[in-house]
Amino acid sequence: MSFGAPMMLPGLQRDEHWYQRGVYYEVLVGSYADSNGDGIGDFQGLISKLDYLQWLGVDVIWVPPFFESPLRDGGYDVADYRKVLPDYGTIDDFRELVTQAHARNMRVLIDIVINHTSDQHEWFQASREDPEGPYGDFYVWSDTDEKYQDYRIIFVDTEESNWTFDPIRRQFFFHRFFSHQPDLNFESPAVQREVFDIVRFWLDLGVDGCRLDAIPYLFESEEGTGESEPETHEFIQRLRAMVDDEYPGRVLLAEANQWPHEVVDYFGTDEEPECHMAFDFPTMPRIFYALRSQLKGELEEILRDQLDIPKGAAWGVFLRNHDELTLEMVDEDYRQTMYGWYAYDPRMRINVGIRRRLAPLLENSLDEIKLANAILLSLKGSPILYYGDEIGMGDNIWLDDRDASRTPMQWSPDRNAGFSTADPGKLKLPVVQSLVYNYGHVNVEAQMAQSGSLLHWMRGMLQLRRQHPVFGMGSLEVVETNHESVLAYVRDYRGQPSKRHSGDRRERILCAFSFADTPTSATISLPLDAGSRLFDLHGGQEFPRIGEDGEVTLTFGAKQFYWLYIADPEFVDTATSAISIIRPDDAS
Ligand code: BGC
Repeated sequence: MSFGAPMMLPGLQRDEHWYQRGVYYEVLVGSYADSNGDGIGDFQGLISKLDYLQWLGVDVIWVPPFFESPLRDGGYDVADYRKVLPDYGTIDDFRELVTQAHARNMRVLIDIVINHTSDQHEWFQASREDPEGPYGDFYVWSDTDEKYQDYRIIFVDTEESNWTFDPIRRQFFFHRFFSHQPDLNFESPAVQREVFDIVRFWLDLGVDGCRLDAIPYLFESEEGTGESEPETHEFIQRLRAMVDDEYPGRVLLAEANQWPHEVVDYFGTDEEPECHMAFDFPTMPRIFYALRSQLKGELEEILRDQLDIPKGAAWGVFLRNHDELTLEMVDEDYRQTMYGWYAYDPRMRINVGIRRRLAPLLENSLDEIKLANAILLSLKGSPILYYGDEIGMGDNIWLDDRDASRTPMQWSPDRNAGFSTADPGKLKLPVVQSLVYNYGHVNVEAQMAQSGSLLHWMRGMLQLRRQHPVFGMGSLEVVETNHESVLAYVRDYRGQPSKRHSGDRRERILCAFSFADTPTSATISLPLDAGSRLFDLHGGQEFPRIGEDGEVTLTFGAKQFYWLYIADPEFVDTATSAISIIRPDDAS
């Protein structure tokens, strides 16, 4: 597969805002590309696909755990934090991945799973065997399973309690997730020191940031719920201070599946910062709800209720990832409705969520996939794509757990979808062969060959987004529309004066989306922009002018969207190039 003329390798560009501007791509090493034909994806395979990711327009690759692990939780059960899984390659291969990504001006974000380890970790083995030894207090042990009775259980489908009896130590150990994942005891200064050193180890190796997995659960207390205890925040503040001090420019991303008013605490304050970024969990299910209900209501509400976050902090927004589409951030009625629409077969459900990929969730409707991505790419926050969703890959609900949507990347119609040359029976997870999503036709090669494919459309959107720093850096203001199916917001950004531009270099973009299943017309109120002109960001076509009353009426096809540049009334040049008045390199 060729990606056009040989690409220049730009090298890593300095940009203190890289984590706010970039488009992220989550890629599971074991499922992406297998370089040695053993049926498992590896670092060399991923390295061989970096040109593809550069071509697509990805800025940051997020690589979930690749450490030594029994793989009973997709690698989130770490057995050694400093060793890579031999199936994936060597630590030098990982180093090469970072170097090669940087050469293409792409950053690398990895997972640091610090709440718990695998029960195979030598710390746990030592802890269970020698309670008085140096690792005796590395985990949360108790003579009974009665402590913390009010704490919720997260993996409700598999676990009945957060305590499991260990027959060797003859005590119970505490675990927030699977019973083979004992929680580390953060009360122990030695545990804290180890965690700092693990973070240092990977930052020394050159990674640009760490996703802090399951971050709310570090500390437990009798009075609290074991979620977001004050000590947890104090610990993250100290971790952040270390990163700022020793590794300026690297970032921490919080994974806290909580309500916005709780998650914002993970950004900390200007004086005592915690994470640079945090996932936005509540917005995602509301996008899916709006798509089926044809109502913008709750999505609009959550976008209106934006909380102040410290300067330099950023949300990470997403549609899908390696986990289930979590429905923890919606109420019971809403959840049941969503199960009815999106998980009508019980096999599609897991814990409090749905284990399906984007395209099957949206019944493979190209219009809906585009609409959902257009929202994702224009929200306030850094968009995170999930590998394979750029070609509309399907899932396999007959596989266990969340493996349903972790199947091999579909590169071509060749054996094993071009993912591996191994005997098909040897693959760790089978490629998708379903009628609709069969790799024979849903694959990168086929979509590269069709200019109208989802893949080319995604690439175009990423390019467009890159030309407009407003998407990464600007504010978002929801504006009124007179239609319950039509959501609209304005992204606004004022760039600093630069050598190239003087004066007001403000960029305002109207993003409008119709969730209706049929053509619709809606009036949008833009009082601040009365009399302004509107130009389509894609092609530069002029749209109806905003009236002197600050209103404009737009017509939408079913499930359609617009990204429109708002230009002063005096703006005369309708050439597309004129629409990018603030270029990324001018923005600061
Ligand atoms: C990860 C999951 C994992 C869990 C327990 C989560 O936050 O995203 O994939 O199962 O942590 O480690």
